[in-house]
Amino acid sequence: MTRKVPPLSVMLALPLLFLFLSSTGTHAHNITRILAKHPDFSTFNHYLTLTHLASEINRRLTITVLAVDNAAMSSLLSKHLSLYTIKNVLSLHVLVDYFGSKKLHQITNGTALTSTMFQASGSAPGSSGYVNITNLKAGKVGFGAEDNDGKLDAVYVKSVAEIPYNISVIQISQVLTSPEAEAPTAGPSALNLTAILSKQGCKTFADLLISSGVASTFNENIDGGLTVFCPTDTVLGGFMPRYKNLTAPQKASLLLFHGIPVYQSLQMLKSSNGVVNTLATDGANKYDFTVQNDGEEVTLKTKVVTAKITGTAKDEEPLVVYKINKVLLPRELFKAAPTPRPAPAPKAEAPKGDASVADAPAGDDVGDQTADKNGAAGLDGGKLVMMFLSLCVGFWLV
Ligand SMILES: *[C@@H]1O[C@H](CO)[C@@H](O)[C@H](O)[C@H]1NC(C)=O
Ligand SMILES: *[C@@H]1O[C@H](CO)[C@@H](O)[C@H](O)[C@H]1NC(C)=O
Ligand SMILES: *[C@@H]1O[C@H](CO)[C@@H](O)[C@H](O)[C@H]1NC(C)=O
Ligand SMILES: *[C@@H]1O[C@H](CO)[C@@H](O)[C@H](O)[C@H]1NC(C)=O
Ligand SMILES: *[C@@H]1O[C@H](CO)[C@@H](O)[C@H](O)[C@H]1NC(C)=O
Ligand SMILES: *[C@@H]1O[C@H](CO)[C@@H](O)[C@H](O)[C@H]1NC(C)=O
Repeated sequence: MTRKVPPLSVMLALPLLFLFLSSTGTHAHNITRILAKHPDFSTFNHYLTLTHLASEINRRLTITVLAVDNAAMSSLLSKHLSLYTIKNVLSLHVLVDYFGSKKLHQITNGTALTSTMFQASGSAPGSSGYVNITNLKAGKVGFGAEDNDGKLDAVYVKSVAEIPYNISVIQISQVLTSPEAEAPTAGPSALNLTAILSKQGCKTFADLLISSGVASTFNENIDGGLTVFCPTDTVLGGFMPRYKNLTAPQKASLLLFHGIPVYQSLQMLKSSNGVVNTLATDGANKYDFTVQNDGEEVTLKTKVVTAKITGTAKDEEPLVVYKINKVLLPRELFKAAPTPRPAPAPKAEAPKGDASVADAPAGDDVGDQTADKNGAAGLDGGKLVMMFLSLCVGFWLV
């Protein structure tokens, strides 16, 4: 009720700080950045990003990436495999063990089978997804997929980067041939978001996505990574009278507010408190909310409401869908008052226009929310950007 301004600015800075700390802390290595220094691997690097393997690699410790140069990648690409099949092939090139060049040349008994991310993904049938590493004559090291009839079709070229014992990047002469990894796969583009939502107790939400026309925006974002927070049917049922009161653009913004255009596993949400942009975000500090841990729970806070993740309806990277126990009410549309109601909408115009209306000094706000709002208004966008930039620069220098 009587919060002072200094702690409040600290409160605003902390989520940013935590976001930054956790992104440097949990990502001790960044495969994209490591490979970016080597233009020979630009195609390989590009496909690690496209297939989302890069983020999986960054999340793991004790890993070895068998990189191939652009020429080797073009022979893989000339096979015209689907992106999801390419993902399987490349995941066979990520060994879930650390092999520095020294260890590679000193394998016990001269040969080893090592597990890969393809094997760990569950996409590999049976016991396939292993790579055979064998010390050959004259100090050469051969590599072959276990399902390649004993043929070691690639050899060690050079070490690209070694961060013992977190990540080792090694160049091999060509892409490993593996009939199992190259078998056609159905990709997540086959995922039907509204069908998934309907089956998981979020039919009302799915129907609203379709009737409002924003389902396409959600679908277009799946391939690049999408996290959806769906208020379950019971939750949304009680909210419908207020939903119906919104203009069409406001309805669209409210629904888009329930999606963020990146894949965020529960683990990632738990380890990164901070402000997130949503599909409704249009410009800085608009339609965003704060992810905040509450013990083992993950809460989503807007200035108006705090919702809780109550379950996972689907988690198949690049798409993850969580159930939540409250409708997320953006401050741009709803007032931060004890009995919130839709902001008056004098004209049916773009959400941006409505937002500025709702952003006008809210004299009738009470209690904590008044303090929050005034505090937030005191820190203008420019200052926030400066603060964030200086934090970035600070950490960059460290
Ligand atoms: C390896 O990863 C751990 C955990 O993220 C980190 O603490 C450590 O500093 C990393 N080692 C190197 C050499 O970067
Ligand atoms: C890794 O590095 C790339 C290129 O520098 C950057 O775009 C990306 O955001 C980084 N990823 C993480 C998780 O830090
Ligand atoms: C190496 O070979 C010996 C003798 O064949 C065997 O007993 C041992 O288990 C092997 N070690 C490994 C790591 O395969
Ligand atoms: C690896 O492949 C070589 C060549 O086919 C074979 O001789 C060796 O037994 C294999 N190693 C393992 C551990 O299966
Ligand atoms: C997704 O499923 C819904 C039924 O929930 C269906 O009406 C729609 O046509 C499907 N969309 C696609 C692209 O398959
Ligand atoms: C709908 O909006 C009107 C006018 O702003 C308001 O009086 C009414 O209480 C609202 N109804 C609901 C259910 O929020």
